[in-house]
Amino acid sequence: RPKDVGILAMEMYFPTRCISQEELEEFDGVAKGKYTIGLGQKFMATCDDREDINTFLLTVTHNLLEKYNIDPKSIGRIDVGTETAVDLSKASKTFLMDLFASHGNTDVEGVDSKNACYGSTAALFNAVNWVESSSWDGRNALVVCGDIAIYAEGSGRPSGGAGACAMLIGPNAPLVLEPIHGTHMVHAYDFYKPKLDSEYPEVDGPLSITSYTSAIDAAYSAFKKKHALKAKKSGSEAPPFSLDDVDYPVFHSPYGKMVQKAHGRLVYNDFLANPTHPKYASIQNTAALLAQDYKESLLDKTLEKTFINLAKSHFDSHVELGMKCSRRCGNMYTGSLYGGLASLVSSVEPSEFLGKRISMFAYGSGLASSFFTIKVKGDTSEIKNKLDLVKRLAAMKVVPCQEYVDALKLREESHLSKTWKPQGSVDNIWPGGYYVESVDGKYRRQYLRKP
Ligand code: CAA
Repeated sequence: RPKDVGILAMEMYFPTRCISQEELEEFDGVAKGKYTIGLGQKFMATCDDREDINTFLLTVTHNLLEKYNIDPKSIGRIDVGTETAVDLSKASKTFLMDLFASHGNTDVEGVDSKNACYGSTAALFNAVNWVESSSWDGRNALVVCGDIAIYAEGSGRPSGGAGACAMLIGPNAPLVLEPIHGTHMVHAYDFYKPKLDSEYPEVDGPLSITSYTSAIDAAYSAFKKKHALKAKKSGSEAPPFSLDDVDYPVFHSPYGKMVQKAHGRLVYNDFLANPTHPKYASIQNTAALLAQDYKESLLDKTLEKTFINLAKSHFDSHVELGMKCSRRCGNMYTGSLYGGLASLVSSVEPSEFLGKRISMFAYGSGLASSFFTIKVKGDTSEIKNKLDLVKRLAAMKVVPCQEYVDALKLREESHLSKTWKPQGSVDNIWPGGYYVESVDGKYRRQYLRKP
């Protein structure tokens, strides 16, 4: 059986342009601090009609193959996670096949996984499970995910963004997926995309926040239960799983403040499991917090602030390291959690990283969520160097908010066109990036790669 299956290589893609949330507050005429403090946002990536999800995924996959000199014939499976697909039938994965079929490799399993921002995690679990399965053919797998997160004018708009991630999956990886997953999936109409004539979602904002929060409670609880069961079976005397067993927590990041809320909520969960631990000594009204009705706890701002404050120094020193992509690019939906992992890998010195444990919280509205862990078992220098993330994020151009609105307008106009002639400039594409060249009379898109 293959050992230590996990992430061997990573690449991130984001557009060349972003806008400042501070400028957006002024542009939208909202109160100062609403986006930057209230939502914890800094910048948000943007692209126009020259890009779609297939250009994102083609670019990030092609760049991964090139940077790591990966032979396309060495890939036996590709799993894609996205909720921005441009076709209801044809998987985005099939567009990626051009990169492999041209090298004589069409024996590549896997298609798209869809459930809002969770598709990437479904894709990752599928790829890892394939490598660990009896049908594994000895080749590596790819997981490719990403989205263009855009909202109709209104309160959702500042929580948009864009970006994509590609990961090479195989044995003897430096980032090894550990076997326990705690999962929580139920039906909810918190964020959904019922409209064929628009890229914008329908959102119940308050419900989306309580859904995310209740999902972290339930997925973390499921994880801890399985962990305890495993420990019992192996006769372990170790205390129950808590954040003390995690070095770096990474979260799906719809916007910065939600990650702070989620991190505080994990600390609240740990507090409920062991309220007399000295680390909670500074907490006031412990009895009231312990007697809290569950539904009320989801809406209780005092409770939320208490645990955000208690967790603040850990957030600043450990969680923030995994937020470089989201601070610059905003929400990447399926790419968000893995942009978080890429940010963390880029922020921690490989010698210090070795032996550490990362917790991952995946959330996709609708809803699907999982809490799982990754162990750093090898040298992450190559991934850190090849991502070159800090420099690349800094190289994004901050453009006026009007350019963002104009880009969205172009996307709106092109959305259902059979024959669209893209208006956006190819100057806004990175060298080596794919772009939409044209749309023929039958909705079929032609893609080119910029030299
Ligand atoms: N200065 C400082 N803070 C301010 C402020 C000001 N001038 N004005 C408002 N605020 C604060 C509010 O007090 C509030 O803080 P708390 O969260 O601590 O209560 C915060 O800013 C947000 O303000 P509102 O409650 O008024 O909310 P909003 O109308 O701005 O909407 C939103 C926020 C619901 C997140 C909206 O942006 C949205 O619908 N986004 C899309 C859905 C989403 O991202 N949901 C997150 C969970 S779902 C998920 O994770 C899946 C996914 O990727 C989409």
